[in-house]
Amino acid sequence: MSSRPRVLVAGASGKTGREILRLLAPRPVTVRALTRSGTRTAELEARGADEVLVGNLFDPADATAAVADVDVVLSAVGSDLRALRGARFVDGEGVGALVSAAADAGVRAFVMESALGVGDEPTSPLGSVFNAVIGPIQRAKAESEAALRDAAMEHTILRPGLLTGGRRTDTVQVAPPGAELWGCVSRADVARLMTAAPWTPAVTDRTFEVVDNPLLTGHPDRVAIDWVDGPRRP
Ligand SMILES: NC(=O)c1ccc[n+]([C@@H]2O[C@H](COP(=O)([O-])OP(=O)(O)OC[C@H]3O[C@@H](n4cnc5c(N)ncnc54)[C@H](OP(=O)(O)O)[C@@H]3O)[C@@H](O)[C@H]2O)c1
Repeated sequence: MSSRPRVLVAGASGKTGREILRLLAPRPVTVRALTRSGTRTAELEARGADEVLVGNLFDPADATAAVADVDVVLSAVGSDLRALRGARFVDGEGVGALVSAAADAGVRAFVMESALGVGDEPTSPLGSVFNAVIGPIQRAKAESEAALRDAAMEHTILRPGLLTGGRRTDTVQVAPPGAELWGCVSRADVARLMTAAPWTPAVTDRTFEVVDNPLLTGHPDRVAIDWVDGPRRP
């Protein structure tokens, strides 16, 4: 039996998810990718997934199957704007099902990509814009954040600003909720923090706002974190 940690990437086909796969590919971990689409298996394997699970997080049985024998969950799942026409949001119901299944399965650590403005803390004008434009999705994220904080496993929640397709800079600002950070951040930078979080004790059981804004390098709430990348090949 392999002693490599098994990492579930939920939302692996998405734009952050693809960055996560790229970072995990050279690492001594077994990567399981979750997608709803049965036609994406070959693409996800080519991007570095060792296993592909076709499932929908609105089905609790699929959430349970996704976390079987998993050590770490990285969730980059999210609704697209068409979801606003309906009343069900994967950000709340789906991620909540994944949190519940992961806790039941004994997953060690769960990392969630949330968004600036989620939660009750004061937020920047950018967070307020997110809340105004996609309020139901933001409230759904708040529900699954709360479920994750209550769950019996390690967690880290990242609330990024406006996501971009830019390159990884490693110059991000990270601060506790209520710091009112604002700005963009690349998915490559967020993916790096997500893949490091389960191996970085300083971020265990914590929630952070995350942006990459040179105007905020002196922000008083900013916390300096020595991010520890996951296992390396010997
Ligand atoms: N856009 C922004 O500026 C911004 C800012 C802050 C935070 N965020 C948040 O950051 C996260 C990542 O965003 P992104 O743009 O990188 O993602 P994305 O490209 O929109 O990808 C979303 C992923 O979610 C998966 N998904 C959706 N519904 C699902 C379901 N019912 N079951 C299983 N998987 C499902 C999709 O997988 P399949 O289609 O393969 O099933 C897809 O891989 C999201 O939570 C987003 O809300 C975005």
